[in-house]
Parts: sequence; C-alpha cells; structure tokens
Amino acid sequence: MDFELSEEMRMIQETARNFADKEIAPVASELERNGTFPHELLKKAAPLGFCGMLIPEEYGGAGLGNLALSLVLIEINRACASTGVTLSVQNSLGTSPIIKYGTEEQKKKYLPRMATGELIGAYALTEPGCGSDAAALTATARKDGDHYVLNGVKSWITQGDEAGIVIVYARTSDAPKAKGISCFIVETDTPGFVAGKKEDKLGIRASSTVEIRFEDCKVPASALLGEENKGFKIAMSTLDGGRIGIASQSIGIAEACLEASIKYSKERVQFGKPIAHFQAIQWKLAEMKTRIEASKLLTYKAAMKRDLDVDHVLDASMAKLMSSTTANFCAREAVQIHGGAGYLKDFPVERYMRDARITEIYEGTTEIQRLVIARNILG
Ligand code: CAA
Repeated sequence: MDFELSEEMRMIQETARNFADKEIAPVASELERNGTFPHELLKKAAPLGFCGMLIPEEYGGAGLGNLALSLVLIEINRACASTGVTLSVQNSLGTSPIIKYGTEEQKKKYLPRMATGELIGAYALTEPGCGSDAAALTATARKDGDHYVLNGVKSWITQGDEAGIVIVYARTSDAPKAKGISCFIVETDTPGFVAGKKEDKLGIRASSTVEIRFEDCKVPASALLGEENKGFKIAMSTLDGGRIGIASQSIGIAEACLEASIKYSKERVQFGKPIAHFQAIQWKLAEMKTRIEASKLLTYKAAMKRDLDVDHVLDASMAKLMSSTTANFCAREAVQIHGGAGYLKDFPVERYMRDARITEIYEGTTEIQRLVIARNILG
C-alpha cells in the first residue's frame, strides 16, 4: 500500500493548483456575484487538458484517469466551486459515458471538440417528478423510422443552456422503471430542444442551472448511446464517476475553508492574543483537517478503483457522503471562526458555505448515498 502520489500525479496537482491560484481565485467572487458562466476560464483550462481529462489521447484528450481528474477538481474547487462543477460535469457526466459506451463514430464526432472545450456537455436525468427516484422518469423517445422523437421535461440541468450536447435519458418502452430507459446524445441545436430560464440559486451562482424541454425533438437513430432500454445502467455507472467528482469538489471547498480559517485565526486578536492560540479554535481546525484527510483517502481510493475498472459503487458513494458532509462541516466552522466577519461578503467563507450546501444534494443526496452504501453491505 502506498499513500504517496506518484511524481506524475503531483505534477498534475501542482499545475492545477497554480492555474487555480493565478487564474481562477482572483475572479471567483466576481463571477459568482454576477452569475457569469466561466467561459473565459474554460478557454484557459482547455490547453492544460482540464476539459478532457478522461478522453484518450487519440481523440485529443489528456488521456488521464479519475485520480488525476479528482486532483484537478480539488484544486479548481478550492478557488471556485462554480468553475469546479462546470468541469466536473464536462468530464465525468459529459465525456465519460461517450468514452465508455460510444461507438467509434460518436467518439470521433464529439470527443475531440469536448477536449478543446469548444463543446460543453451536460447530463439530463432528473425531471420535475423524479429526483432521487431516477427510474421513475417519464420523458419519452418514440422510434420513428431511422429517428427517435423525444418529448418531456428535465429539471435542474447543470449547464443545460451552455452545452452543445446533452446526455439525455428517456423511455423507449413500456417496461417498468429502470427497464425501459435509453440514453441519447442530443445536440442542443436540434429543433425541439428548448432551454428554459436560468435558476436563481443559493450557491454555485456562476454555474448555470436550467430546465430543458423536448418538444417533438427528432434525433437520428445514431444518437442512441449504448443499447436500447439499457440506459439506466449507463446513468448509474456514469453517476458513480460523477459522485467522485462531487466528492473532489467538496474536498476543494473544505480545504478553502480550512486555509481561510487558519489565516484568519492567526490574524484576529481577542483577549490579547490571536484566536488561533485558543483551544476552542484549535479543536475546530484539527477536526476540519482530520475530516478532509479522511475524505481524500476515500475519494482517491474510489477514483483509483474506477481507473482499474473494478466495482466502485460503494466506494464512490462513501467518498461522496464523507466529503460532502465534510465540506458542510468545514464551511460552518469557517464561518464560526470568522465570527461576524464570516457573515459578510467581504470574506470568502460565506460563499464557501453557500457553495458547500449543494454537494449534499446533487448527484445523489446524502440520503441516497447512505441507501446505496446500506444496499451494498446488506447484499
Ligand atoms: N452501476 C450499474 N448498474 C447499476 C448501478 C450502478 N451503479 N446501480 C444500479 N444499477 C442497475 C441495477 O443492477 C439494476 O439492474 P437489474 O435490473 O439488471 O438488476 C438497475 O440498475 C436498477 O437498479 P435499482 O433497482 O437499484 O434501482 P432503484 O430504482 O432502486 O434506484 C437509486 C437506485 C440508487 C436510488 C438510483 O435511483 C439513484 O442513484 N438515485 C439518485 C439519482 C441521482 O443521483 N441523480 C443525480 C442527477 S444528475 C446531477 O445531479 C448532475 C448535476 O447537477 C451536477
């Protein structure tokens, strides 16, 4: 067993850290305040390989794996969780199902442009009536000669209005629940694809979240990803990777909280000394650090198992559960350590607290992660 990152992984981590500190951190608050989608940052991130981390080199990607992606996402999210989720969705929910289930034609058509960041990907599973109960989705894809015609509504779709393609799940048969669902790559300039207004959110405000509708949206049969009626497994196995991405996001937010808290507690003087000298503060910092390290170990393990292509369903859910609760714990403690200052927009910790909240909700709530974990250990 080796707990050290390899030389290559350390270099990737350092590259991402430098990029995040130099390019993202200075603009993160402003992007968030104005709700500006991070187009400019994506343009700068693409040449570093961050838009196509998992895409094989033959399709123009970085040809790296989930551990490398996790390391990059941690660093990016340390600076900006909106940019972080944009890249997490691009890599783990957008490119990964095409890499794993796509035909040669689909890979050639989409992956090179996704790697350069020219093509943004989104993922549409959730509907107004189906969130945690994903298999209850009702959107339909009716076969019509050599086309499918899609109808239905998808909710809370991250970057659904910015994407060039959306991975969409729809019902192709009357078979119940998970059995009759298929997966499609839908190009967003297809007539009948409608992106609704941007949602007004608590956090990650520079990432866009929209409702999308399919109104007799006719796509070619070649848009089918994987086999007909086998789409639910694609949805779930893709989310196993996505959950590692959100675990990484959570760790990044938690680290930012700890760094800000260490800095502030060394500077802020009360009762004649910096508050870092008081055990009440030290215990908070110690607890934050310990939970972050535990989250990292679970997340790296899940990422490495995904890279080895061995069963990692349990690992991905444990990583997301641990890391997202850690992010929220650390954000709350960071605001507490900052006291009144932590409640103001002058300091970044109020943003971290708002951003952390979503990590316990999207890509499977903490309750769903516990359900997946329990099912795995009960057999
Ligand atoms: N990998 C592969 N296959 C899987 C799987 C996995 N991880 N999990 C389940 N399956 C298969 C099962 O083996 C089963 O197949 P068989 O019928 O052949 O046995 C089939 O899928 C159905 O599985 P379940 O019976 O377990 O399905 P269920 O209806 O009980 O649901 C669930 C399981 C875990 C609750 C699932 O619905 C779930 O994960 N819900 C949460 C949804 C979610 O995470 N949504 C996130 C939306 S995307 C997002 O948030 C993106 C963003 O904004 C950033």
